Amino acid sequence: MRAKTTRALSFFAALLTAVNLAAARHAQHPLGLPAVPASVAGSLAMQQLGERLFFDRSLSANGTLSCAMCHIPSQGFTSNQSALSIGMEGRLLRRNAPSLYNVVFKRFLFHDGRETDLAAQVWGPLLARDEMGNAAIGPLLERLRQDPVYGSSFDAAFPGEGITMTTLGRAVAAYEATLLRADSRFDRAFFGGDKTALTAQEQRGYDIFSSKGGCASCHLIGSESALFTDQSWHNTGVAFARKNAPAVVKVELAPGVVQEVRLSAIGLDQTETRNDVGRFEITNDPADRWAYTTPMLRGVKDTWPYMHNGSLKTLEEVVDFYDRGGGPNAALDDKIKPLGLTAEEKAALVAFLKAL
Ligand code: HEC
Ligand code: HEC
Repeated sequence: MRAKTTRALSFFAALLTAVNLAAARHAQHPLGLPAVPASVAGSLAMQQLGERLFFDRSLSANGTLSCAMCHIPSQGFTSNQSALSIGMEGRLLRRNAPSLYNVVFKRFLFHDGRETDLAAQVWGPLLARDEMGNAAIGPLLERLRQDPVYGSSFDAAFPGEGITMTTLGRAVAAYEATLLRADSRFDRAFFGGDKTALTAQEQRGYDIFSSKGGCASCHLIGSESALFTDQSWHNTGVAFARKNAPAVVKVELAPGVVQEVRLSAIGLDQTETRNDVGRFEITNDPADRWAYTTPMLRGVKDTWPYMHNGSLKTLEEVVDFYDRGGGPNAALDDKIKPLGLTAEEKAALVAFLKAL
């Protein structure tokens, strides 16, 4: 009897420590980021449930794809090997999987900003025919209800609410809200007052980022925190820069299984003007043609390839792209102009980006 009580007590003590730790993790946000909205962050139980869902292939129609297979944790929550994402039955999507670092702060989700609610966003890939391929919401929820482990995890995370479209979305969003990336050497220098955190070259890169390069006019740096986005969208001409796109791309179908796909065979060998006009598809406003949301850049050294179509592989290529004045396009954003950077300035800018 006494042993049982002691065991129960130590169990509760351990539970309390876990809860306290989680609370501590909630309270302190990494240097350089604002606080995560509590409404999205949820409880530790929600985050753990969300994590399980994120990695669970049985959420896809045929049990092959999880969120984590396109947003790969060890690759900055994107897929380094695929410029364009590979979905259900190997179908090539028309866009690059964005990194999920700091995504809880992104006001307009997807490259065209069509979604504004992280918990609702989850249902986009779950239901897209080319992504996780579920034909409807009900049968997927029913499958999860059959699973006793999910039953008790949902009960713990959402007492009395059960497994619903809303609770599933909130759990995954709560997990995504933990994917914070900051407290970089840039943050320590800029927000932590550590003047030695950046090298002289990186510091020079910061000066170019915020002045000659004009980068910080879209990739904003605040006085208390930095998200490196203006929460808006711009036409940088990337959609037009695909003329040099390769005829063949390598796609990773499963870890270690790489296959070459001929773009012409799947109708993607043209420039993207026909297939992808960005924000315009959502608003029908001609001013939004080929405009894409401004990405947040933290951890950018790990999240290649870059841009909505993954057309630029390295940060050097990105800096060259901006230095040329973006892609040739009559509707280009006013802020995109040839920069006339020297080789030394370009190298400094790249070094700065790597310090984020
Ligand atoms: C087949 C690959 C694939 C799978 C599986 C996938 N995603 Fe994505 N994800 C993408 C692509 C590609 C985009 C960009 C689509 C667009 O902009 O139109 C994206 C966009 C997102 C965004 C928006 C990020 C931003 O910066 O705007 C979030 C959040 C997200 N996915 C989360 C998830 C979650 C959660 C799951 C699982 C339920 C999931 N994804 C499954 C490929 C995938
Ligand atoms: C007019 C606003 C604007 C300016 C100025 C700007 N950017 Fe961007 N940046 C964007 C947008 C929008 C995208 C996404 C384009 C796309 O997806 O096709 C982007 C994408 C990027 C990316 C790729 C990130 C990723 O995850 O794919 C990097 C790196 C980047 N910019 C760095 C810079 C640097 C360095 C400068 C200055 C030389 C700069 N940007 C200037 C708006 C801007």
